[in-house]
Amino acid sequence: MITIHKKIQLQPILPTDITHLQKLMWDIYPPAYSYFWEDDGAFYVNNQYSKENILIELSQENAQYYFVVFNNEIIGNFRVVWNEKLTGLLQEKQVKLHRLYLHPKTQNKGVGKTIVSWLEAQAIFKNYEVIWLDAMDKQEQAFQFYKKRGYKYHAHIFLDFDLMHVPFRKMNQFYKVLE
Ligand SMILES: CC(C)(COP(=O)(O)OP(=O)(O)OC[C@H]1O[C@@H](n2cnc3c(N)ncnc32)[C@H](O)[C@@H]1OP(=O)(O)O)[C@@H](O)C(=O)NCCC(=O)NCCS
Repeated sequence: MITIHKKIQLQPILPTDITHLQKLMWDIYPPAYSYFWEDDGAFYVNNQYSKENILIELSQENAQYYFVVFNNEIIGNFRVVWNEKLTGLLQEKQVKLHRLYLHPKTQNKGVGKTIVSWLEAQAIFKNYEVIWLDAMDKQEQAFQFYKKRGYKYHAHIFLDFDLMHVPFRKMNQFYKVLE
């Protein structure tokens, strides 16, 4: 367990936590993204958080996968993928913040900010030059959150999930050069 604030800890996710992670994402993903999808996001959660996919992501050697613990309760999760590069960015040392998701009941309480600041400090300590991430264009909360933290637009792609409504398919890549 890593303490990053007196009320916030990061708990490494283990293969035995898969059911817990899946249940958590059913609580988090649909309230934030159901309007993107014809099926309220069930396809996305079932695929992205299938046991097989979680095990693959947990086995990735250059990555860490954490639960976020706030006031002694697991309320979110995210991954950190070291040395994953964003096409078109020249810096050698890049790290990806992957899928930071917090439970609706703990959003807008400063937990996200604390996690991003912690990762930035970690990356600087390890001599990394850039943090980057993907953020859906039509999810205003996440879009504004990263903009306010100094993340800049780099490029975008359109996701090709059949079940995703066409106007919601734009995904932006944001990055921040660390100083
Ligand atoms: C996006 C998310 C990670 C942010 O974490 P959080 O703990 O809720 O955010 P914080 O309380 O630390 O900070 C919120 C900041 O975003 C701003 N914000 C939130 N919604 C906003 C909106 N619609 N418009 C403008 N600013 C907004 C707040 O004003 C605040 O900014 P401040 O620095 O000026 O105070 C979290 O809300 C979340 O998981 N949301 C749902 C899932 C999701 O979309 N995840 C991102 C995947 S890329």
